Amino acid sequence: MMHSWLVLGLVVAAAAAGYDYRSQPDLYYDTWWGPEGKEEDTTIRPFRIEWDKKDIDDLVYRLKNRREFVPSLDDSAYRYGVNTHTFGFWLDYWANDYNFTAREQYLNQYPQFKTDIQGLGIHFIWIKPEVPEGKINIPVLMLHGFPGSVREFYDAIKEIQKATENKNFVLELIIPSLPGFGYSDYSNKEGLGAAEMAFIYKNLMNRLGHEKYFMQGGDWGSLITANMATFFPDEIIGYHNNMGVALTDAAFSMMSIASLNPSSIMSCDVVNRLYPLKNTFEQLTRDSGYFHVHATKPDTLGISVSDSPTALMAWLFQQVSICTRKANYDDPEGGLHRYRPEQLLDNLMFYWMPNKGPTSFRIYSNTFNLRNYHLGYLK
Ligand SMILES: *[C@@H]1O[C@H](CO)[C@@H](O)[C@H](O)[C@H]1NC(C)=O
Repeated sequence: MMHSWLVLGLVVAAAAAGYDYRSQPDLYYDTWWGPEGKEEDTTIRPFRIEWDKKDIDDLVYRLKNRREFVPSLDDSAYRYGVNTHTFGFWLDYWANDYNFTAREQYLNQYPQFKTDIQGLGIHFIWIKPEVPEGKINIPVLMLHGFPGSVREFYDAIKEIQKATENKNFVLELIIPSLPGFGYSDYSNKEGLGAAEMAFIYKNLMNRLGHEKYFMQGGDWGSLITANMATFFPDEIIGYHNNMGVALTDAAFSMMSIASLNPSSIMSCDVVNRLYPLKNTFEQLTRDSGYFHVHATKPDTLGISVSDSPTALMAWLFQQVSICTRKANYDDPEGGLHRYRPEQLLDNLMFYWMPNKGPTSFRIYSNTFNLRNYHLGYLK
């Protein structure tokens, strides 16, 4: 009897040691992500998006010289992926109707900058308002995800400015491109995932003179901001995200156990968002193939999306479709007609022009791996 208590005691102690959430993960403020020997330019320099005429001509040429599609199955909507019967509209629009001059002007309407952090040039929109007498300035970091870009925030910026007109504060908005996305540099080293990016954006905020700030994150931005709140609790005054995730063993156990009585962990009116679990897992399995590819073979897929704007568009639009509305699966247009073409095409330009399709995928493989899991910070 004594013996078995001793064994149990040791097991509990070992488990407790393994679950020491106070231990610091192996992450550093100054990890160098740039090429070896690069001179770092820590100045904050103005940046403008400038599309070369020759790159635009090349894009239009590729769009117009694709092979004929193999037709999608009859009435299959988006159940086999992007439906070729409706997809041609988007390619034609990009080649013939998208006004590159006007869109370039549109995308440059907010002040943009670049500065080097840990060896990488980081691109960001920086809206620094006048601070009138009696008002205080509140900095807010806003982070996008995949298949997005800073373009996600263009419409929101105006709403935010309007909503804060009569408040006793003004908001200073800092909206960066993630490393490997848009006009931020990519790393040529393994391992730059959501945890490592948290340090890059802490360093960016500090460089802009902010020791305390708010944050908003969507998609990958949610994971990065959640990590920042975990690592730098003294700096983060508050944060909001629109993709809360709890990737812990405890959360998964709780989710399974609660399936016996879901209303024990959530209010009745939202129970059907998660339960029955078989529906949730069916949908996750059905729609998350892209995730597994990005997390395991990003560079193979990268070859096709960097060579073909048609492939890039199909791959990204599939994710826009499945990640925004469940019912898009059974919609012949995949729900894409709900957007103005420019909203989706501007966003694609952040991937095509700087050739960042392949490098954007790598955030998945750099985050979802055992090395990252064993860092323990998710607990
Ligand atoms: C494209 O936009 C530019 C700038 O706004 C404008 O001058 C030009 O007329 C537009 N082109 C077409 C074909 O509409």
